[in-house]
Amino acid sequence: MTDETQDRQPSAAESPQPEAVPAAQAAPVKPAAKRPAKVADEEISRRGFFSWAAVAWVGFSAAMGGCMTAFGRFMYPNVLYEPPTSFKVGIPDDYPAGVVDDRFKESNGVWVINDEGRLYALIAICTHLGCPPAWLEAQNKFKCPCHGSGYYKSGINFEGPTPRPLERARIFVDPSDGQIVVDKAQKYQWELGQWTDPSSFITLA
Ligand code: FES
Repeated sequence: MTDETQDRQPSAAESPQPEAVPAAQAAPVKPAAKRPAKVADEEISRRGFFSWAAVAWVGFSAAMGGCMTAFGRFMYPNVLYEPPTSFKVGIPDDYPAGVVDDRFKESNGVWVINDEGRLYALIAICTHLGCPPAWLEAQNKFKCPCHGSGYYKSGINFEGPTPRPLERARIFVDPSDGQIVVDKAQKYQWELGQWTDPSSFITLA
């Protein structure tokens, strides 16, 4: 055998052809080494998604609840329930001469007084800074517990820091039933000369 023969490369035609391999065998399915990790990642991300969805739902529900509460509150006006300014206090015979009647002080904020043939209603608010004075029967005066202002039965101030008398409310007899009506919406001040107004007292027979 010559060198030429040894060096010659076989031609393509002479080269042995690889055997045809079935497609199914061509790429053998190897179990992916990383697949379990991927599945685990998907599990975790799915769980995370549901966790965040739950948090978001709770937050949304809380926000909606707050909105509904605010809306419900908005639908109801801020009403301050106070006693009516106009009310009935009985008939004139219920008030004997000289009495300072405090039955309506707590409920309606007035004293009804029979003083020298006149009935009038004094408003139970101190004219200093608005505390409710008390009627002291033994001392025949109104006394304010806050800073010590004192008032006569008429409502005129005589001691303490208050600058002026108590105020009176409109008072009249309802002709339909003979009941005395006190109307706090209309007030009368002594220093303005309003106590002479016939609506500020009832003249007793
Ligand atoms: S509030 Fe009545 S004396 Fe001050």
